[in-house]
Amino acid sequence: MTNDSGVKVAVLFYSSTGNLAAMAEAVGEGAEAMGAQLRVRRVPELAPPEAIAYNPKWAEYVAKTKDDPVATLDDLEWADAVAIGSPTRFGGPASQMKTFLDTSGGLWAQGKLLDLVGTAFTSASTAHGGLESTILAINNHFYHWGAIVVPLGYGDPHLLKVSGNPYGASFFSQKGAPPDDVALTAARLQGERLARVATWVAAGRAGEQA
Ligand SMILES: Cc1cc2nc3c(=O)[nH]c(=O)nc-3n(C[C@H](O)[C@H](O)[C@H](O)COP(=O)(O)O)c2cc1C
Repeated sequence: MTNDSGVKVAVLFYSSTGNLAAMAEAVGEGAEAMGAQLRVRRVPELAPPEAIAYNPKWAEYVAKTKDDPVATLDDLEWADAVAIGSPTRFGGPASQMKTFLDTSGGLWAQGKLLDLVGTAFTSASTAHGGLESTILAINNHFYHWGAIVVPLGYGDPHLLKVSGNPYGASFFSQKGAPPDDVALTAARLQGERLARVATWVAAGRAGEQA
């Protein structure tokens, strides 16, 4: 199903070795397939160069993406719906993403994040290494913003029978493998669902104002 509502969807992610970047692209593809206007942005890297240099895959990713557009508060203000993606770090979101989210206080204080539609996705290296706890920790920001939280759910056979995480698209990379089709399909479905729900919310608001 597609629509041409043109809801504005921002997919904001942190990635150190590319897994979340690939998932963010897939979430964006899903939203775009629903007719959404799209911004896919990485949040800034904040780790010191010596920490990055310790991991060649991290250093390579940082070099490759240095000119990619970076998320700003304007992206949050612009969006009708936001998908936030972070790798799991010790069972929670990466500090780079947390730092970005913690700069949203000014928008929050002005009520500009109220009724934003939000969803979260992640990747970890192991199946039980904290995928859900990361998504739930990201969702805490949505509750405080007064956002409308959209879980991935089980509304598609792929989610029910194959990828199996109703909290949000989740990939476990094991030995650093990039996201597989199972995870990328779940991410695409999440982008579609986010845009669909955002369309309903936008229509409801328009009706209220008429
Ligand atoms: C400092 C650090 C902490 C991590 N913590 C966890 C963890 O708690 N559980 C887990 O399964 N994987 C953990 N990982 C692995 C990453 O979540 C995983 O490799 C992820 O797919 C990386 O995504 P990216 O390529 O987008 O950065 C950790 C990695 C790092 C570097």
